[in-house]
Amino acid sequence: MLINFKDEITRLKTKLDVTVVAHYYQRDEVFEMADITGDSLELARKCKADPNHWVVFCGVGFMGQSVKVIAPHKRVLMPKIACCAMARMMEGTYFDESVAYIIKHGVAKEDILPITYINSDASVKAKVGEMGGMVCTSSNAHKIITKGLQSGKKILFVPDRCLGQNIAEKMNLKSCVIGVGECNPKEADIICFNGFCSVHQLFTSDDIAFYRQKFPNIKVAVHPECDPSVVREADFVGSTSQLISYVNGLDRDQKVVVGTEYNLVNRLRKENTYVLSATKPECPTMNETTLEDLYRTLKSIEDGEPINEIFVEPHVIEYANLALERMLEIN
Ligand code: 13P
Ligand code: SF4
Repeated sequence: MLINFKDEITRLKTKLDVTVVAHYYQRDEVFEMADITGDSLELARKCKADPNHWVVFCGVGFMGQSVKVIAPHKRVLMPKIACCAMARMMEGTYFDESVAYIIKHGVAKEDILPITYINSDASVKAKVGEMGGMVCTSSNAHKIITKGLQSGKKILFVPDRCLGQNIAEKMNLKSCVIGVGECNPKEADIICFNGFCSVHQLFTSDDIAFYRQKFPNIKVAVHPECDPSVVREADFVGSTSQLISYVNGLDRDQKVVVGTEYNLVNRLRKENTYVLSATKPECPTMNETTLEDLYRTLKSIEDGEPINEIFVEPHVIEYANLALERMLEIN
């Protein structure tokens, strides 16, 4: 018998004590079935406040983990345990090596404040939390780094070098990237790990020049995971939610080109909106989750045999939670 996945998902959501969560980069058919949607910060906040016991999270691994860390009593399942490529660039040993690099270059450990982008494994968040540091997202990085700098310490920013460099430029601060050219931690305010998002690296300043030549009055809006050379030339820089608000706030006849993941851009208003790349900028792992995966995950709860559950070690939860809660408090 052919299963109508949408009908079955609706039936299971009504029957079970479950909330379906989806990030903006999910496929449209999955996104439409979600009870909670948003950017990384909104998802973390809303999941914490949500009363349901089960969370089925359509996104990438660090997002499901973050829910488990801020609400350990919840049971979190992911239809696909797909990993963000940037988060995978950083692990505990690389974090330790980055701290060691800064110390070797003359900065005492107590003078280093680590900040991790939420796109990181819970074990990395735990290391950051244990050193007194915090998490940030693309929508609050400026605020979190401003707060961090008030401590008078050097910021070690992981794993996204672009977000770290972009905030440093915006704040007129000095930054450097470990392993790229001269990186003297004593002279920098923000010392970045050399991680990046391969999807957002697709956008270039040549793409911006192409669109500006084609449509002289076009607006350019990009995500802060883009390279600084791209961010510098944009009219607007913001998280996924902020990009949506920006585009929605423009006059209907104002042309805009957007530099972020394809599913989100394609869901924006259809007229006068362009994608800032000749190559379709799809996040491969965000696109892994299908409607069938979502159905099977919900069905596994009904059958009493939950699949793809997220577990995080208690000592990791303890310290990762500190880093996430410090962010939520500041926010
Ligand atoms: P947002 O925090 O803007 O949702 O971004 C998450 C992400 O993975 C962007 O690539
Ligand atoms: Fe990770 Fe980039 Fe995909 Fe966002 S778009 S989830 S940063 S790989």
